[in-house]
Amino acid sequence: MMHKLRTRKLFILFNVVLLVIASDGLVLAHDSESLSPRLTPRLQELLRKEMQFIDEASQNILTALVAGSDAQVATLAQQIHDSFILRQSMTPEDKNHLVTVAPEGFVQRDRDFHQVAAELAAAARTGNRALQHQQFGRMIEACSTCHALYASDRFSGFSE
Ligand code: HEC
Repeated sequence: MMHKLRTRKLFILFNVVLLVIASDGLVLAHDSESLSPRLTPRLQELLRKEMQFIDEASQNILTALVAGSDAQVATLAQQIHDSFILRQSMTPEDKNHLVTVAPEGFVQRDRDFHQVAAELAAAARTGNRALQHQQFGRMIEACSTCHALYASDRFSGFSE
């Protein structure tokens, strides 16, 4: 039983990795412009908090996916969609600052990412496993693509 679970988990991970490799996750390094150094310390802190939250939630989603816990996947994906810690805790001054310093593409990618999380939650609510796997793959792809573009200072794997 455990062995079977581990094999499935590995299989899904393998597919996610393939998807990322096959996708536009391979962004050219010279396109990158790291966001964090341009932010105020307060915004840096908010962004990291949101990232740590979605990092944990997405790992828990993988565990729930391979256990067939649709309800758990739905809850976690919805939490990611609703997170927006960044926006929720932002003052009007913070927002102005972010809009001024963040590249246009960043804001759009952030929006798309939260949209994919909503679609994953919806797939989980209908119990459609194949669609959940697909949306989860898209979500992980959105993480790494954004990091390659806007966080290569933080993730050196994307800086070469
Ligand atoms: C729209 C862009 C974007 C998306 C999408 C995104 N990230 Fe990030 N992430 C960033 C940026 C920018 C940083 C760098 C923050 C810094 O260095 O202060 C970061 C940093 C992180 C960190 C490091 C936090 C720390 O404590 O330094 C983790 C972990 C992380 N992201 C996980 C994820 C995961 C998992 C996903 C997808 C489920 C994801 N991110 C999606 C932009 C994004």
